[in-house]
Amino acid sequence: MLGLLLSVSTMVRAEDGSDLWLRFKGAGTADVTGVKGVAMDELKQYWQGNPVVLKKQKNVAKDGYVITTNGGKTTIAASTDAGLLYGAYHMLRLQQMGQGGAPVNVSEKPFYDLRILNHWDNPNGTVERGFAGKSIFLQFDPQKMKKYAQANASVGINGTVLNNVNAKPEALGVENLQKAKQIADVLRPYGIRVYLSVNFASPIKLGGLETADPLDKKVVGWWKNKVAEIYKMIPDFGGFLVKANSEGEPGPCDYGRTHAEGANMLADVLKPYKGLVMWRAFVYNPQSKDRAKQAVEEFVPLDGQFRDNVIIQIKNGPVDFQPCEPYSPLFTNVQKTQTMVEFQITQEYLGAANHLVFLAPMWKEFFGLVKPQSVKAMAGVANIGDDTNWCGHHFAQANWYAFGRLAWNPELTSETIAEEWMRQTFGNDDKLVKPMVKVMTESRDACVNYMMPLGLHHIFAGTHHYGPEPWYDAPGIRRDWTPAYYHKADAEGLGFDRTKNGSDAVSQYPKELCDLYNDINTCPDKYLLWFHHVPWDYKMKTGRTFWDELCHRYDKGVQQARGFLATWDAMQPYVDKQRFEEVQRKLRIQARDAVWWRDACLLYFQTFSNRPIPQDMEHPVHNLDEMMKFKIRITMYENPECGYTK
Ligand code: GCU
Repeated sequence: MLGLLLSVSTMVRAEDGSDLWLRFKGAGTADVTGVKGVAMDELKQYWQGNPVVLKKQKNVAKDGYVITTNGGKTTIAASTDAGLLYGAYHMLRLQQMGQGGAPVNVSEKPFYDLRILNHWDNPNGTVERGFAGKSIFLQFDPQKMKKYAQANASVGINGTVLNNVNAKPEALGVENLQKAKQIADVLRPYGIRVYLSVNFASPIKLGGLETADPLDKKVVGWWKNKVAEIYKMIPDFGGFLVKANSEGEPGPCDYGRTHAEGANMLADVLKPYKGLVMWRAFVYNPQSKDRAKQAVEEFVPLDGQFRDNVIIQIKNGPVDFQPCEPYSPLFTNVQKTQTMVEFQITQEYLGAANHLVFLAPMWKEFFGLVKPQSVKAMAGVANIGDDTNWCGHHFAQANWYAFGRLAWNPELTSETIAEEWMRQTFGNDDKLVKPMVKVMTESRDACVNYMMPLGLHHIFAGTHHYGPEPWYDAPGIRRDWTPAYYHKADAEGLGFDRTKNGSDAVSQYPKELCDLYNDINTCPDKYLLWFHHVPWDYKMKTGRTFWDELCHRYDKGVQQARGFLATWDAMQPYVDKQRFEEVQRKLRIQARDAVWWRDACLLYFQTFSNRPIPQDMEHPVHNLDEMMKFKIRITMYENPECGYTK
């Protein structure tokens, strides 16, 4: 009786998002034979189709797999255990998408060898720019870790940095290393390696030395001992991620050394263990004339000086994970150094865990200009926390999913990824899948429209990156931490002149792009205010003046956000109650925030443009004084729960 009750209760358990896209229904029924391991375990537990044979085969690419169906029997062949596991998840994905019965004949291999999450988790359990609760690593929970491993492996993610790039020295303390070992032990069978962010001054703060100079023998000795200690505990430890001389973090430049000297010291220490250094290029100092230029200025002179186990980790855009940026020109300026791209999965600047913004289109846009083969690896700043649904917003799970799928194959389209995710996460009813795939693929465009259309960037509120405050300023604050530094609104127009007549950031791009962006008449609309200070009456391609166009873009964003809500409202018959209501609540916040963004920005910019808001669009429902009084309840580590309060 008790057994019966238990099994009934597991069958009808609520759809709370905790299963992510791995919502396997019912137990596995198929005959699974061959190589034993996690791939076999997963198939035995969940696969309900043909008999499957798991086979080791040397000529299959590392981590790749070949699946063939013959005479009603499916064979998954791979040269590594990870390859078999990825093959198993391929089958399970098909099963969940309602295609489990069909014969499979595919050959797949990951595009990037390294597909890695960066957690910005702090030792106290908070997550920097995290909006989904506390760190999942705070209390070691083997069940949760297993689920995390399955989710990552199911999309091919094979590395994870456990702690914040703003690393505390204690990240390398014994207690944290023991925790890292526990986690590594759970992740290993799923093909996932553990990495750590390190504080460059650790030899001082943790080791009691007087310096962290990378050329000092004692310092090198300290790192050698530390690395030996780590590999004793975690033999397949992946390596270090380093944020140095960036936003006040310590680094080699504190001792007159270069980024290359700092990175190489760590690389040499890690080399005997095949460890990697991911050295971030997120540098900008308060004196620079244009923040967007600095990474190139600082790193290009060092090109060719880095060891072969150093990868320079570069954010996709030159400023900072904005809703829309051109690509970081550092990618096309370094020739002799390995680079990897860092995307931000957590929506620090895209509505946190309140807005539905599917990020694949943004990442695809990057790969449209920076060829996937020109970078070595892909990192994503995780959006994962201990919330029941892992990511704060049910649809934010799709960004974790999309990151893994694109790191596996950057050629996949946003639509394909959205559809895969929808089918697995919400079921196969086309009445639900089709409209929501459309919402997902439009959502980033909408977010750009209602937040920062036409190349606007970084006009966020001072103390958080959630709402608008294009007017934000504070006494003594760094200029490049104020919106006015970026929008440069004045009586003449709006936008940052980065042309050859301005900061000349445009010259950091290859000639063809430089010419395109430098000319106001050919610069794509989406980057217009990134590269140009555009006169209010400038004639746009639509025939409107620039001011009118700006107004219309903002309003379009509002209409799009409302449209998403209306679409979702109509989905009620096809979605379980809990997830339906939770998503609905968030979409209501998003639609309301879109109005907030539009009204705040237009009313503020109108004080410079002195032009009326066009007749043929919805007019602001607030006035500027009201808007300037809005303060939202938010701290750095919390999701802005209420949107805003007066
Ligand atoms: C952004 C973010 C910080 C983070 C930094 C980084 O500036 O707001 O919280 O530390 O990026 O990527 O290092």
